[in-house]
Amino acid sequence: MFEDSVVNQVAGEFELDAAQLRSLVDLFLSEMDAGLQNNGKGMAMIPTFVSNLPTGDEQGTFLAVDLGGTNLRVCSVKLLGNGKYSMEQRKVGVSQELMNGSCEELFKYIALQIRTFLDLHHRDELASQELTVLKLGFTFSFPVEQLSINEGILLRWTKGFNIPEAVGKDVCKLLQTQIDNISLPVKVAALVNDTVGTLMARCYTNPDPSTTVLGAIFGTGTNGAYVENRAKIQACPAARKGDGPSMVVNTEWGGFDNSLTALPDTAYDQELDRLTNNSGSQMFEKRVSGMFLGEILRIAYNAISFRCKEAVLTAFSEPWSVDTALLSVAASDGSSELEELQRFLTNQYAVGRLPIENLRAIKVLSTAIGKRSARLAAAAIAGVLIKYTSPFKKDDFVSLGDLDIGLDGSLAEFFPNYEGYIRESLKEIPAVASLSCRITMGIAKDGSGVGAALIASTTV
Ligand code: BGC
Repeated sequence: MFEDSVVNQVAGEFELDAAQLRSLVDLFLSEMDAGLQNNGKGMAMIPTFVSNLPTGDEQGTFLAVDLGGTNLRVCSVKLLGNGKYSMEQRKVGVSQELMNGSCEELFKYIALQIRTFLDLHHRDELASQELTVLKLGFTFSFPVEQLSINEGILLRWTKGFNIPEAVGKDVCKLLQTQIDNISLPVKVAALVNDTVGTLMARCYTNPDPSTTVLGAIFGTGTNGAYVENRAKIQACPAARKGDGPSMVVNTEWGGFDNSLTALPDTAYDQELDRLTNNSGSQMFEKRVSGMFLGEILRIAYNAISFRCKEAVLTAFSEPWSVDTALLSVAASDGSSELEELQRFLTNQYAVGRLPIENLRAIKVLSTAIGKRSARLAAAAIAGVLIKYTSPFKKDDFVSLGDLDIGLDGSLAEFFPNYEGYIRESLKEIPAVASLSCRITMGIAKDGSGVGAALIASTTV
């Protein structure tokens, strides 16, 4: 039988106290600086060549393709101005074979999906020449060294993709070549990280007078993009030139603290890292994002089974068999018998009736793992807020107004109280505690589609 003391002890290992939170923020700030100066130690801090945030008045029809995880989304976005838009979209899966196959197969697949989408949604406008060449915003949510608005060299894959021959290549060119091979009237006009799209979409649709400073994703992977003073981007002379005082920087914070100086590192985190194809990298992401939390739950639950001398659940015996959705269901089931959780386990995992102690263990662990994710998320958010506000003197601080954050991703959307845990944690960080009542946050729906369209709309 599961013993409460063992369950509580394992769940306790996921607690992150205020002192740890503050050390994380300090390290985050120094890694941000290191990345901006390119001394090779910090986060990637990639300049995006996006200088202007939307005004809400942008108009026109644009295509967007979003490759970021297990799905590929093709959409067309009609920007209507006044912060409004309409959108058609089609989502298809990306198989393990494509994720681990050849460059040509992956980009050809994307081009063919664009063709199918155009046939379904834009055949008449294209035939009548109402639409000639469509500009496409390519949301490619992996670390890319951006050279211009539509050129970017893939630095490495994340989130289970592994196509070594694509690393070091310009992903826009790879896509344009396949589009041209099948003669589609489409120009890859902008390369967009999903966090940048989220920031842009939130800015476009946010009716409040607050300033959107950060777009953050807490989904399959995690990352954030924020508005930086152009002069601070030491690493990239090309980014320092150009119009306007600022540029959006893609932090690639998933790779924060890979050397584990301040991040928590339980035995369960270590086991998880061993099971990934990029061991030692994306260490922040592996403690925060959806792709990994189900696996951490599985490993921790099995450790409890072992210590309480119970057989491992068949459904939990294989690595990667547990999806993060289970954490959200478990953490939100408030009933005394945890019926919702039992039903979910039966329907999704063919698990027979579990003793209440075991169900409770899943709930307690899920809450602890999800809460730790949100507290870590808060450390990253705090780092960005401190960086963004640091140039402002106390006096002109008031004129800054409220600071807004656009969020997206399954954890931000579905894990119970995720935003609440973030807010609670921000109050424990002295440098942002005083700001916390001025921080607004909200889900930026369709960030990767609308945001990509907005960026494509600024290109010539
Ligand atoms: C990628 C980022 C992306 C994030 C969220 C990470 O694995 O490296 O580029 O923004 O996932 O999708």
